[in-house]
Amino acid sequence: MKAIVVTEQAAGTAGMKLMERPEPQRSGGSIGDVVVQVRASGFTRDELSWPSTWIDRLGRDRTPSIPGHELAGVVVALGYGTTGLSVGQRVVGLTDWTRDGTLAEYVAVEARNLAPLRADVDFAEGAALVMPGLTAWQGLFDHGRLRTGQSVLVHGAAGVVGSMATQLAREAGAYVIGTGRAAGRQMALDFGAHEFVDLDHDALEDVGAVDLVFDVLGGDIAKRSAGVIRAGGTLVTIAGPTEARPVGGLTIDFVVVPDRVQLSELVQRFRDGRLRTSIGKVADLVDAVAALNPTERPKGKTIIRVKGMSS
Ligand SMILES: NC(=O)c1ccc[n+]([C@@H]2O[C@H](COP(=O)([O-])OP(=O)(O)OC[C@H]3O[C@@H](n4cnc5c(N)ncnc54)[C@H](OP(=O)(O)O)[C@@H]3O)[C@@H](O)[C@H]2O)c1
Repeated sequence: MKAIVVTEQAAGTAGMKLMERPEPQRSGGSIGDVVVQVRASGFTRDELSWPSTWIDRLGRDRTPSIPGHELAGVVVALGYGTTGLSVGQRVVGLTDWTRDGTLAEYVAVEARNLAPLRADVDFAEGAALVMPGLTAWQGLFDHGRLRTGQSVLVHGAAGVVGSMATQLAREAGAYVIGTGRAAGRQMALDFGAHEFVDLDHDALEDVGAVDLVFDVLGGDIAKRSAGVIRAGGTLVTIAGPTEARPVGGLTIDFVVVPDRVQLSELVQRFRDGRLRTSIGKVADLVDAVAALNPTERPKGKTIIRVKGMSS
């Protein structure tokens, strides 16, 4: 099969190559696996800095490895012990960080990491929901315990993850303050933010007390954010560990995990128009290396189409 492969961490995305790789075994593979024919794949820019791209769970070199962990596709084979899926079914999901990923024609993935994708959702949209949607959901509701009537400050509200968090928080009945650069103001408001703080020109400290901060930026912005959290509130960050602590409250940094139930909730919200994705560029697998090495900082999620993309 055709796949994007990386072999050398220092090379970054410039080291990506389109190559022939063996297809995952359709039978006798790992227990609980299904094989999915990938139709659309998502890649996160930081992936090539994660140890799991280069070594397996026992610390052994696993190169050449196939990056990309978000997918929409069609189940083509079921292994022993898989539940809830059938051959021919359309699915979305998030694959294991320490195994070969989705920038390929086929991928082996644990069935529990997949959720059904109804026929009225385009594969590209499905793939674009996965990582940003799960990250926003888990940050707001699992870790942030956001409830109706609470207030949340969402950093990077016009960005890929922040725009999902803005929409989900608004729908949950929270008061949403989005932040970002001036150019992102209208987009953040369109995604549902009640107000917007331009971090380059407005004082974050003027926001007043919020129950939750959803941080995607880290660094100094995460530190300053702790000061705008009500006593006992929570700072949730996806930008890595931070020393910042709200008074009497919690700071939680986390990495997104697959979740079938949450994926199904996200797909349903997309279908009935409550949730929009933030797709930037869409390219075919043969053009993926160029698409994932843009000359300018990309806006929106880059989605790679595999196998012609008819839905
Ligand atoms: N822990 C996890 O599980 C997890 C999961 C998914 C993503 N992530 C990480 O989360 C981060 C965000 O991902 P993303 O896909 O949402 O990125 P993104 O689409 O680039 O969104 C970031 C947003 O913040 C804005 N921004 C960046 N720096 C800023 C600054 N200094 N001041 C004001 N605004 C600023 C950006 O504006 P411009 O576009 O104008 O710069 C953009 O609107 C990435 O580092 C990603 O790797 C972590």
